[in-house]
Amino acid sequence: MNMLEVKDLRKRFGDNEVLKGINLTLKKGEVLAIIGSSGGGKTTLLRCLNFLEKANSGEILVGGRSVYRATEGEKPEVTPEAQLSFGLVFQQFNLFPQYSVIENLMLAPKLRAKRKTTQGERETPEAIRERAEKLLATVGLSEKANAYPCQLSGGQQQRVAIARALMLSPDILCFDEPTSSLDPELTGEVLRVIRSLKSSDRTMIIVTHEMEFARHVADKVIFISDGIIEEQGTPEEVFGNPQSEKTKAFLSAGQKV
Ligand SMILES: Nc1ncnc2c1ncn2[C@@H]1O[C@H](COP(=O)(O)OP(=O)(O)O)[C@@H](O)[C@H]1O
Ligand SMILES: [Mg+2]
Repeated sequence: MNMLEVKDLRKRFGDNEVLKGINLTLKKGEVLAIIGSSGGGKTTLLRCLNFLEKANSGEILVGGRSVYRATEGEKPEVTPEAQLSFGLVFQQFNLFPQYSVIENLMLAPKLRAKRKTTQGERETPEAIRERAEKLLATVGLSEKANAYPCQLSGGQQQRVAIARALMLSPDILCFDEPTSSLDPELTGEVLRVIRSLKSSDRTMIIVTHEMEFARHVADKVIFISDGIIEEQGTPEEVFGNPQSEKTKAFLSAGQKV
């Protein structure tokens, strides 16, 4: 069964149609890399998948269940658990500057535990802290638990942001150009963490300019141009033998567009 299915997703800002009918599927444990020039709609797609933007029409299914459905001109239907299906790691880390690293990780799970009064067991603060400590160890930052974001390098901040996203155990973890705000010498540590998540069978969508990384880590690659999936396939197909002229032009333009 597909972990994710996106059907004919469309998004407009005023008259500007930014996503013009996106269709894609992803199986559990698969990694999808999304590439494309600036302004093509990549961030908007991730934001629609994380419900930071509401698509105007289309449907999103997770594990075969519809979590979001919208018809043009009508109020979208979103299931309560939809938010929990996706996590997003931003280009600019977006850590809470006033909280320590461990507090950044614990905040959302604590809020969720507070809300969860009627169904299921509430996760105790001790259990949340234990999970946070484990995840910090996973991203190699145990010794920074009590540091503040401003005391960390960009690469360390991004690793904290990844651990924070994992605290909510999303089915699908999305990354929006996770290394593009980093100095080149700091990208490796972040890409290594993402690569390690792949070996733990995590389903991921990664918008990236790191073509070598996409080629090695992705199971599928999508090239988005002007709100349309211009080309998709395995990394070998898209990088090795692109069919569309736009893809060829993008790949031969030195990639960093
Ligand atoms: N909140 C917004 N309001 C209006 N237009 C937006 C908004 N967000 C994105 N856009 C427009 O949508 C288009 C695609 O942007 P974006 O999804 O950020 O592309 P990419 O991430 O591929 O660079 C751009 O033309 C951008 O100006
Ligand atoms: Mg973007």
